[in-house]
Amino acid sequence: MPSNCQKCDNTGFLGKKVYYSFCDLIGEEYCLCNLGDKAFRRWCQSAEVQQSIRLIRKKEVEKALAFSEIPSYWKEKTLASLEGQENLILTVNRYLDGFPKFREQGIGMYLWSAGSGRGKTHVLSAVCNELIQRYLVPCIFMTEEQMYFRIREAYQNHAISEKKQYRKFMEAKCLFLDDLGATKITPWKNEVLTGILDYRLNRRLPTFFTSNFSPEGYEQNLQSSFVARPGRITSRIYEMCRGFILEVKGEDFRKKIAFKLQNKI
Ligand SMILES: Nc1ncnc2c1ncn2[C@@H]1O[C@H](COP(=O)(O)OP(=O)(O)O)[C@@H](O)[C@H]1O
Ligand SMILES: [Mg+2]
Ligand SMILES: [Zn+2]
Repeated sequence: MPSNCQKCDNTGFLGKKVYYSFCDLIGEEYCLCNLGDKAFRRWCQSAEVQQSIRLIRKKEVEKALAFSEIPSYWKEKTLASLEGQENLILTVNRYLDGFPKFREQGIGMYLWSAGSGRGKTHVLSAVCNELIQRYLVPCIFMTEEQMYFRIREAYQNHAISEKKQYRKFMEAKCLFLDDLGATKITPWKNEVLTGILDYRLNRRLPTFFTSNFSPEGYEQNLQSSFVARPGRITSRIYEMCRGFILEVKGEDFRKKIAFKLQNKI
């Protein structure tokens, strides 16, 4: 159907330049008629626009990675670079693919193994990286101990509000806590963690953990530290990570790497 548009004299262009925020470029202003629509779509598919969109996305990912505070050593870790963990990779990929649904339910992940060097932090950081790359979701990644340090630091330094720091962990869209239970628990830490997990559970905000304890073991550990009501934290973990409480089996990779290096010398 031939269009007959007086607004653009059948050119599709209005003869003016405008700014398009979706690609951060200045381009022609297109007419609202069929011709203008076609020309606009053609421009959107052009190499210039596509490249600019890719660049914006890359910058957004970089910003989200910086915001997450994930250490650079762990930024490089991927599921693909994990050897001999096929079953675990399958489950983690199921989580990543279903993230939009799990996110709505506030479901995260609990990775544990009795020994260290099993790849728990590797997997945790790979999950954080993937969620940022695929879904651009703002994440915070640190050890449980670092989190307490941050809150304590704010308590001592009046320039940083303790409440604000505390809320940062409560409200993070996704919170990654590495090495849960690695250091001695105190009543203060217990209260802080319970408060943060409570808030996150009630608002369905996914939380991810690694620990050298199974959830049962962690509860026993709290019990032996004479913490009031030790089941409070673990019952929240069960609810937050249901379906994704995963034991990371396998050998100590740090030892394996050291052994390999030794044999090369
Ligand atoms: N299955 C694996 N394949 C490849 N590298 C691994 C694997 N498991 C662990 N690693 C590597 O070994 C090192 C120790 O793993 P890490 O994730 O810190 O263990 P954990 O947190 O269980 O103590 C890391 O550099 C990690 O990338
Ligand atoms: Mg670790
Ligand atoms: Zn027109």
